[in-house]
Amino acid sequence: MTATHIVFERVGKSYDSVKGPTKALTGVNFEICEGEVFGIIGRSGAGKSTLLRTINALELPTEGRVTVHGTDPATLPEDALVQLRRKIGMIFQHFNLLSSKTVWDNVALPLRVAGASASDMRERVGKLLNLVGLADKAHAYPAQLSGGQKQRVGIARALVHSPEILLCDEATSALDPETTQSILGLLRDINRQLGLTVVLITHDMAVIRAICDRVLVLDQGEMQEIGEVWSVFGAPQSQASQAMLRSLKQGLPHEVVQQLQPTADTAHSHALIGLRFHDLPAGQGLPLAALQALEVLCRGTELIHGGLDHLQGHSVGQLIIRIPAANLTDAETMRQTAGADTLEILGYVQSH
Ligand SMILES: Nc1ncnc2c1ncn2[C@@H]1O[C@H](COP(=O)(O)OP(=O)(O)OP(=O)(O)O)[C@@H](O)[C@H]1O
Ligand SMILES: [Mg+2]
Repeated sequence: MTATHIVFERVGKSYDSVKGPTKALTGVNFEICEGEVFGIIGRSGAGKSTLLRTINALELPTEGRVTVHGTDPATLPEDALVQLRRKIGMIFQHFNLLSSKTVWDNVALPLRVAGASASDMRERVGKLLNLVGLADKAHAYPAQLSGGQKQRVGIARALVHSPEILLCDEATSALDPETTQSILGLLRDINRQLGLTVVLITHDMAVIRAICDRVLVLDQGEMQEIGEVWSVFGAPQSQASQAMLRSLKQGLPHEVVQQLQPTADTAHSHALIGLRFHDLPAGQGLPLAALQALEVLCRGTELIHGGLDHLQGHSVGQLIIRIPAANLTDAETMRQTAGADTLEILGYVQSH
């Protein structure tokens, strides 16, 4: 990773409303590097959009500051802010295209507003429509386009001023999985070809996995976790991340997930436990010796599900095991015995 691009320094944000102030962000402190694809995840209301919008001063922090290449947009006079915002493109979930204008005019509009000459406009819009694969749709209207095509227009429009940063707020949320993949492919190409820094919000973990270098987990306006995707996804540390990344449960049959109880109701209950093995050496399989060690500690340990996942060149192993509730010991002892990086009690099931 190269130079620092965007710096958040103890950023706080409160909104005033009739019900009193809402604290949307508290003490947010981190940096995004040049050319990075940076993901922000968190529950609804976590403060993701607010955080993203402080980058181009659509929202101003009420505490701390945000700087972009050393400049704090909040301190800029209006004309300098307009210049800075041109260096920061933005795309949205609902595309925000003008329905009465053609694809060509939608992309050209920001250039027209900036007073570009007709020949500059022709050249720039033509290039961008080629880049996003829509050269043949230049004269179509938004209503004649698919969702994915509309987002391609949104991307072309966001790139007209050759920005250095592209902000994406749930840009693929309205798209089906296949179209999402093609838009992500386009964003990745743009990031690589143009060297753009991309900051994206999503609630789709597959999006983060597919294109992000690092990820920030926000919860109730506070940073829960930040790190490389393989590391945060491989062994989420905070409760909020674990709740969001509870993909472990996805390895379980649906009927089992439905039967999961938060506590053991009888002496005959079994605990379902997820173990994660973070960053296994390349080429190494899942350490089943962990199971044997656990069986010695907790009699009746059984394997329910296991898998290896490859992310950013790292292998992350997961095991889901079942242990009679009566034979459980404390979680930390079990984790150490198994040699796992994290251990999570997913819930309890009645034994048959
Ligand atoms: N303009 C506003 N006025 C008052 N409160 C606001 C405003 N915008 C956001 N908030 C509040 O700030 C908090 C964070 O909102 P924000 O939109 O940043 O969350 P989010 O993580 O983007 O959520 P979602 O995933 O639903 O888009 C919420 O409690 C929200 O109600
Ligand atoms: Mg939002």
